[in-house]
Amino acid sequence: MSSINHKICKLLSVGAVAVLALVPPGKAAADEPSGDPMHVHDADDVWAIARGGRLYDNWMEELLRDQPRKNHPAYPSTGKKRGYPTWRCKECHGWDYKGNKGVYKLGDHATGIKGVFDVRGKKPEEIHQMILGGTHGFSGAELPHAAQELLAIFLSKGQIDMDKYIDRKTRIVRGDIKKGGQSFQTVCVSCHGFDGKEINFKSGRFPEYVGTICRKNPWEALHKIRFGQPGVGMIALANQDIQYNVDILAYCQTLPVK
Ligand code: HEC
Ligand code: HEC
Repeated sequence: MSSINHKICKLLSVGAVAVLALVPPGKAAADEPSGDPMHVHDADDVWAIARGGRLYDNWMEELLRDQPRKNHPAYPSTGKKRGYPTWRCKECHGWDYKGNKGVYKLGDHATGIKGVFDVRGKKPEEIHQMILGGTHGFSGAELPHAAQELLAIFLSKGQIDMDKYIDRKTRIVRGDIKKGGQSFQTVCVSCHGFDGKEINFKSGRFPEYVGTICRKNPWEALHKIRFGQPGVGMIALANQDIQYNVDILAYCQTLPVK
């Protein structure tokens, strides 16, 4: 028995070495260790979509990169933000991905720049070229190509039509609060506490909790619930049905805001 097992183990390990040897340098093996899988194997991998979503939120935090001091060259001089925030994809294209036709049409974040929603369903390779090209020109030096591939996968397969779930004017979410509560109290509770106040995102005097963000900016909250928070150990729930995420958001809007 043990000798058979031993043989199988040996066979498997020889197989694994053979597979590793076939993988060209710079490409990761299919069964990559859990450390930091950056290279893409299958564009339908849900982790790739989720990681792409976190890169869209803040690629500098997600990749632990230095923050540029200057404005992004495509950021308009009429915009109100300066320096590092102008490099986040979401700053120009919005939490709802709809740019100047979405929530960032007006207000502090308005840039007049179009959204990325129309690239949904396009081939990731095509979207990758858009990230590299034009006014934009993200080079591989600042944003590694492997990260650009993940961004392209997210934009192709991960974008949510937020107007279906969040009322733009009232910010009220079309979700089942009761179901969302069941999820929050089993999934989110371990880090954020029952009332969502275990972690304060801002300072003590002007605290921000899960409840605060979900009321103030439900679009941001939905993005983070589905894809996770860049650079920290928050979970992503992109493996779940979108309505499961929306229900959690609806519940979070009932949590204390201060
Ligand atoms: C400083 C502003 C700015 C930032 C930051 C920014 N973009 Fe853009 N993006 C633009 C502009 C401007 C265009 C061109 C829009 C046009 O054609 O008028 C564009 C176009 C695009 C398009 C093509 C959309 C279409 O329908 O043609 C994609 C895809 C895109 N950006 C992805 C990204 C990604 C991914 C990031 C983050 C890594 C990002 N952008 C960050 C300004 C920005
Ligand atoms: C494993 C721990 C963990 C779990 C589980 C978790 N989070 Fe988080 N979450 C974090 C951390 C850490 C942050 C970042 C805190 C910071 O930046 O100060 C965060 C940030 C957030 C933010 C955004 C804060 C901001 O900067 O705008 C929201 C909203 C949020 N979490 C909601 C949730 C919800 C809802 C769930 C359940 C679906 C959840 N989190 C599950 C750890 C977790």
